[in-house]
Amino acid sequence: MMTEPTASLQDTLGRALRDLRISVTDRCNFRCTYCMPKEVFGRDYAFLPHAEVLTFEEIARLAGVFISLGTRKLRLTGGEPLMRRDLETLIAMLAAQDGAADIALTTNGSFPLERVRSLKAAGLSRMTVSLDSLDDAVFKSMNDVDFPPEKVLAWIDESRAAGFDPVKVNMVVKRGLNEDSLLPMARHFNQPGTILRFIEFMDVGHTNGWRMDDVVSAKEILRRLQTEMPLEPLDANYRGEVAQRYRNSETGAEIGIVASVTQPFCGDCNRARISADGKLFTCLFAIGGTDFKALLRGGASDDDLRAAITGVWQKRVDRYSELRTAQTADLPKVEMSFIGG
Ligand code: GTP
Ligand code: 5AD
Ligand code: SF4
Ligand code: SF4
Repeated sequence: MMTEPTASLQDTLGRALRDLRISVTDRCNFRCTYCMPKEVFGRDYAFLPHAEVLTFEEIARLAGVFISLGTRKLRLTGGEPLMRRDLETLIAMLAAQDGAADIALTTNGSFPLERVRSLKAAGLSRMTVSLDSLDDAVFKSMNDVDFPPEKVLAWIDESRAAGFDPVKVNMVVKRGLNEDSLLPMARHFNQPGTILRFIEFMDVGHTNGWRMDDVVSAKEILRRLQTEMPLEPLDANYRGEVAQRYRNSETGAEIGIVASVTQPFCGDCNRARISADGKLFTCLFAIGGTDFKALLRGGASDDDLRAAITGVWQKRVDRYSELRTAQTADLPKVEMSFIGG
């Protein structure tokens, strides 16, 4: 268990700022139907112009300021973070910061395999790979760019071989689309060394056509898994962990379930998010953020940045998942591909 430093920064609900998720680009080479549907993210979609995207120097500086305020985990997200050229350079810059204990990456695992080793060499500590099905047709229908599951599996294998232990695998479960892939995925990753996490389909953004009917609940996911594997609950690794953990008592394999819709976990939420254009968001479901790019480019000192972050965090009231209603699901929230997962 992580202990909280006594005088740590806290929001209005007493939550610390421990975890910074950094979106390094809003672009992706996939068009997952639940995240960047082609009808919206088509050829004409206006992604952020390059000048609006934070430079590596700006990201590293901001991360350093967060670390000085008690942040201990950095996660690089997107879009697809590997769309950003030379991501290894950023990782090395982050790894060089005093106190950055943990640098994690969430990727779709679609890039050339040699990148796994270069990411590791640059100082990446943890690898999380998204994979929604092992079935060729199902996976292709979900990523919508004809990308085969074998290549993602090869990325996962290469990650294990390179020494990432465990490798986490994220599977978003959507009713009628990939619910039949639950058991095959659980069988495939029924081994120590990988942790498969099932994620309830969430109403992030406002373009993915989310409906409660499409959510396969954590309870149902567990019931299906238990038809063929003995699963025992495990304690959380740390306060505020999003996944509920289980262990297969026969094989020792761990799985997780992220039940953000049916069992919200806002009470312990210690996560902040920075979008690729430098806005600070205090909730995955936020409608607006605070512009830090303007501060960074306007000559703010580290103390100015610290004061701005502290000001935002001390006012923080977010607990969207706990308040979610039919009305809030329709709000013009920022997109997942913009804010990161
Ligand atoms: P570690 O425990 O550090 O490995 O990371 P994590 O569990 O936060 O992992 P990851 O970033 O892979 O997130 C898993 C799923 O949980 C993704 O679908 C995220 O979008 C979702 N998630 C992560 N943080 C939050 C959060 O604060 N709120 C909600 N509602 N969902 C979240
Ligand atoms: N609901 C749940 N998870 C989602 N992700 C992307 N969009 C959604 C959604 N609407 C997942 C991705 C990735 C993680 C960061 O979030 O698949 O694994
Ligand atoms: Fe890209 Fe990940 Fe969104 Fe799929 S879920 S479109 S891989 S950012
Ligand atoms: Fe945190 Fe917002 Fe997710 Fe709740 S809904 S856990 S406050 S990011």
